[in-house]
Amino acid sequence: MSAKTENLREAVKEKYGQAALRVQTGGSSCCGSSSAAGAGADPITSNLYDPKQQEGLPEGAVLASLGCGNPTALAELKPGETVLDLGSGGGIDVLLSARRVGPTGKAYGLDMTDEMLALAEENKRKSGLTNVEFLRGEIEGIPLPDNSVDVIISNCVINLSADKDRVLREAFRVLKPGGRFAVSDVVTRGAMPPEIRERVLLWVGCVAGALEEGEYRAKLAGAGFENVSVEPTRIYRIEDARAFLSGEGIDVDAIAGEVDEKFMSAFVRASKPMTGKSPCCGPACCS
Ligand SMILES: C[S@@+](CC[C@H](N)C(=O)[O-])C[C@H]1O[C@@H](n2cnc3c(N)ncnc32)[C@H](O)[C@@H]1O
Repeated sequence: MSAKTENLREAVKEKYGQAALRVQTGGSSCCGSSSAAGAGADPITSNLYDPKQQEGLPEGAVLASLGCGNPTALAELKPGETVLDLGSGGGIDVLLSARRVGPTGKAYGLDMTDEMLALAEENKRKSGLTNVEFLRGEIEGIPLPDNSVDVIISNCVINLSADKDRVLREAFRVLKPGGRFAVSDVVTRGAMPPEIRERVLLWVGCVAGALEEGEYRAKLAGAGFENVSVEPTRIYRIEDARAFLSGEGIDVDAIAGEVDEKFMSAFVRASKPMTGKSPCCGPACCS
């Protein structure tokens, strides 16, 4: 692993470790640049779950929510399925998945930050759910066997990885044939000057850089996935980032045209081909 990748990983661990500690000491997890800039409710992480969905969840799981979407609402989870959440944080999406797949199913959460894992374990205990397991590890090397998971979800984590190809290859490996990849992530749309892209991604909190929509599709196809789709769920306006960018000394009006509506949270879907089908190819080989 390069020194740059290692430094990035440590920076991510540090940031989310602190966020977990803030929740454990009675605060909110909010640590994004937008909130630090005093912009009010975070336009990325706030109001992702409807109140009915949150009912009965431990307060710590709701407070620790740092995603940018609601993958469990879109992933069509079914009773009996095995779900894996990449970068599970305080565990909100794992607990919601566990409810959906029921006692005959299982929900795994994978995270590399010890403080987040401790918070997630506490939330699991408070929820009373028994079909939940949190794993310590990295999404670039998933500690589960090949072909063992029906659905992979994730909420605003793949954009944090410095090696997205590896993450997608690992996701493909652990999914069963026909398994679904159904994640929320930050993506960008179209070309823009790299310097502006970098600055705005810092506002979003994507330290390693989000993928451009077309690049995401190509990487998923390259990992072996099919039926790839990218559906925007929240499109960000320049006004959302104005306070942060101005604070960074950027002339916001001058770059507005390059930025407006080019950054978004999206629901990214794909599936692993059904390679488990009979190899029979017709009368000649079946006889
Ligand atoms: C933006 S938070 C999202 C947490 C959770 N998905 C949610 O919606 O609240 C990112 C989480 O992913 C974890 N994470 C980031 N990069 C990771 C990696 N490479 N491997 C494992 N976990 C990672 C962090 O520790 C943190 O808990």
